[in-house]
Amino acid sequence: MKQVGQAIPRTDGRLKVTGAAPFSAEHALPRVAHAVLVLSTIAKGRVNAIDTARASGMRGVLAVMSHKNAPRLPREKPGGEEQKPPPPKLNLLQDDEIRYNGQPIAVVVAETLEQAQDAARAIKVRYAPQPALLDFQAAKRKLRKPKEQPDRPMQTQRGNVQASLAQAAQRIDVLYTTPVENHNPMEPHATIAAWEGDHLTLYDATQYVSGVKKNCARALGIPPEKVRVVSPYVGGGFGCKGNMWSHVVLAAMAARMVGRPVKLALERIQMFAPVGARPMTEQRLRIGAGPDGRLLAVVHDTISHTSVQDDFTEPCSSPTRILYASDSLQTTQQLATLNVGVPTYMRAPGEATGSFALECAIDEMAYALNMDPVALRLQNYAEQDPEKNIPFSAKQLRECYKVAAERFGWARRTSSPRSMKAGRTLVGWGMATATYPANRMPAKAWAGIAPDGTALVRCGSQDIGTGTYTIMTQVAADALGLPLEKVRFELGDTEMPEAPVSGGSMTAASIGPAVHRACTAARDKLVTMAVADKASPMHGFNAAEVETADGWLRLRATPERGEPMAAVIARNGGQAVTGDAEAGPGEEKKQYSMHSFGAVFVEVQVDPDLGTVRVPRIVACYDVGTVLNAKTARSQFIGGIVWGLGMALMEKTEMDWRYGRAANANLADYHVPVNADVGDIDVVALPGNDTRFNELGARGIGEIGIVGVAAAVANAVYHATGKRVRDLPITLDKLV
Ligand code: MOS
Repeated sequence: MKQVGQAIPRTDGRLKVTGAAPFSAEHALPRVAHAVLVLSTIAKGRVNAIDTARASGMRGVLAVMSHKNAPRLPREKPGGEEQKPPPPKLNLLQDDEIRYNGQPIAVVVAETLEQAQDAARAIKVRYAPQPALLDFQAAKRKLRKPKEQPDRPMQTQRGNVQASLAQAAQRIDVLYTTPVENHNPMEPHATIAAWEGDHLTLYDATQYVSGVKKNCARALGIPPEKVRVVSPYVGGGFGCKGNMWSHVVLAAMAARMVGRPVKLALERIQMFAPVGARPMTEQRLRIGAGPDGRLLAVVHDTISHTSVQDDFTEPCSSPTRILYASDSLQTTQQLATLNVGVPTYMRAPGEATGSFALECAIDEMAYALNMDPVALRLQNYAEQDPEKNIPFSAKQLRECYKVAAERFGWARRTSSPRSMKAGRTLVGWGMATATYPANRMPAKAWAGIAPDGTALVRCGSQDIGTGTYTIMTQVAADALGLPLEKVRFELGDTEMPEAPVSGGSMTAASIGPAVHRACTAARDKLVTMAVADKASPMHGFNAAEVETADGWLRLRATPERGEPMAAVIARNGGQAVTGDAEAGPGEEKKQYSMHSFGAVFVEVQVDPDLGTVRVPRIVACYDVGTVLNAKTARSQFIGGIVWGLGMALMEKTEMDWRYGRAANANLADYHVPVNADVGDIDVVALPGNDTRFNELGARGIGEIGIVGVAAAVANAVYHATGKRVRDLPITLDKLV
């Protein structure tokens, strides 16, 4: 039986629920010392004096590292011409300057964690504060344009939006805002750094082992070959573990200083400044439509905040550029600079925030035109990529609308706000479109069929909780012709063949083809061996006449003629039969626009007096190409949808702008949905097979689930209450 597509339980599930899967802070290393980060408590200025004398003398303390005694790191081209300097987003104790509140200013290392924590509190810092940029409105007066990125243009224009807006029968001009949000994977960032001579091993919670290897080597000024990064299990990433942050290099510096392995795990409160955040956005949407609902002009202007220390741009107009066939379109991106930590990617960066604004604005236009929101979207359905004027590799968005609408019962909706009720509770039905680009990058893999008929398959990728172990075991089993339980798939180590970052929803799409090819290469070698082997019942046949399944080789025409794969290996030297492969994108990106799509329908129930919003049910339908594992895919969609629900109704980093510091830096005050907040979620993935994108036909599914959910909730809230909330999250104070 083919394994790909089946609802296989996670191959790493038992290890995780029994606690046997080692997460980064749990690797047991002899003589490991414990490090604690000390973070700044002002947003801008200098460290005037840092008194570490008391802390250094405390029991168990091995070192206190600050800008005064930290090893000096090379500033540029540390490893010769090949190596670039480390990214400016890092704070590596090289000077006394403070650029944001929560910046690492010292590291305390002690025998035990408690001793390190205690000593960290005993450090006295005197600051020379300077006026900080902490006023978003003031920062907006000095906006700047982000640097253009090759694959993601920041400023775009097609047609004449001014003329088209002027001609429009209906126009809307609305402003949407989304707050700062912080990633809070269950497992906070953690690193164990261990030196053996000049060789560094890092056990790091990361979405990109090879990236950490290169970046840490760059920061330390050592050749990348001297660094190994190990990360077999990651307790969630969501973007914050896509980049290497300061603590990784600081752990390595501290380990060198004390001459012992050093473990540095961030505390939950430390997840709220030095390791990225989703920037706040302000998005102005201007849309003009003809009387029939045809979009004549769409203008999407985005301002997002970034840090004085380094740029990050939340590309909110990404979905706007491909979703609707408007006659004209203009998108702009600008940055407002603040003294805060550097923002970064957070699940569907750009699409999650951008679709909130776009898909609410489309809903507003539907009301202005007195059209059904689904009908308005179908009226402007993009049959091909409206920006690049090339076909989509595959697009079933029409079916997504249809299937989700039917399962939801959308036809029974009465369109005017406040027209549907359950007793005295206001009921609202809203919907939105989801889309996310199909990304992939080059990846390598290795496979070996052992003499005992089992196989080991390796790829230096990551499983950030998405199911990579499981789906790659399935892909490998099918390509090898082995039962699932005979295949062991390994990842998370830079000693393995290199793979890209587990971000941009591209892991399965990138490494799947490489794993498939490596396994096929090993299997083909084995078949070649068999047909050349006089003792084999396959002898003399063409390799193409042989099939492999369940660990056996058989003749396609006469399947009763066969032998176990292990028997062939035993007779031919008894060595593992191996395959190496590489796979990457080709010219298809020029020929096709490649994206996943979906439609999300939401019911809300709003208490008319209290403004509380409940979401009893969500129905979503997706077009993501081949689904590699029905069970892990469903988990990805549901996880994304639940996050979207939190984004809509709860999630916000409450910044105290007097100090530039998060005021709710813990999981009690930083609200995300709990089980009681989540109603029925019905998810369908359409059958599909996008082989123009890659040979598995599978696009990524890690991020599309969150896209559109906040808009669908906001649209449902409007339908229920007649109140258009354009500022996330939609808390009850905005509804009463
Ligand atoms: Mo994702 S935000 O691309 O890790």
